[in-house]
Amino acid sequence: MTRNACQTSCVALNRRLQPAAAGGIIASRCTCFGWGVAPPFAGAGRRPGPDATCLGQKGGNEPVASAYTIRRALRSDVDVLVAFTLQEAYEAEGTNKDEAAVRRGVEGAFADPPLAAYWVAEAAEKGVVASTSVVTEWSDFNGGHYWWVQSLFIVPEHRGGGLVELLIGHLARARSAAGALDLRLYAHSSNERALRAYRRCGFTIAPYVIMRLPPGQR
Ligand SMILES: CC(C)(COP(=O)(O)OP(=O)(O)OC[C@H]1O[C@@H](n2cnc3c(N)ncnc32)[C@H](O)[C@@H]1OP(=O)(O)O)[C@@H](O)C(=O)NCCC(=O)NCCS
Repeated sequence: MTRNACQTSCVALNRRLQPAAAGGIIASRCTCFGWGVAPPFAGAGRRPGPDATCLGQKGGNEPVASAYTIRRALRSDVDVLVAFTLQEAYEAEGTNKDEAAVRRGVEGAFADPPLAAYWVAEAAEKGVVASTSVVTEWSDFNGGHYWWVQSLFIVPEHRGGGLVELLIGHLARARSAAGALDLRLYAHSSNERALRAYRRCGFTIAPYVIMRLPPGQR
């Protein structure tokens, strides 16, 4: 894989993803976070609705001490998203990605039509401390969209406190509100911390194997 596993899968999938306008994703209201959750491919770069703040819970028991606000990313977040993505690739699979390619990848979320959707988490007086993104895949088996977690990154100082649950919960609710199918992802098999976090968030192993045929190999 050429990227962290979440990212790689979805970069590949992106090539056969339906553009946003293909439908199946509708605007709706997120119960926990208020009107901050737009459908993933609509309104990219537009200022989201009112921010909402939630307290996270690691393991479902202990409230997270810090409050975070999760909102849709804006064009003005691109620089930080690029930095997070480069760091994510390095941490998740030990690769140094080409910054220009990553920037092109992130900016795809703000293209027309958008190719992905990003959310960011902000901590009081700290600014953006985490990000996550989603791409969709149309399913002919099920007549709906899967939402694939393309990326997930939390700055080191904000790890271990349940923010990952907040982010995944946010995506899961937005997915449900949009009427989409599974929230899916794949992660590098060596990324034990991410795998543990995903399991804790309720993800289970799916009976599929990822295969790839890089350009030029046939
Ligand atoms: C992956 C990531 C989002 C997880 O968020 P987090 O806040 O760090 O998650 P947690 O601290 O709850 O750690 C998850 C689990 O791994 C454990 N863990 C912590 N450090 C670990 C390590 N070095 N190795 C293995 N497991 C570790 C935790 O104890 C926790 O276990 P538990 O669920 O049994 O309590 C975050 O670490 C991150 O941004 N990593 C870099 C980017 C990345 O890898 N993204 C995912 C790409 S698929």
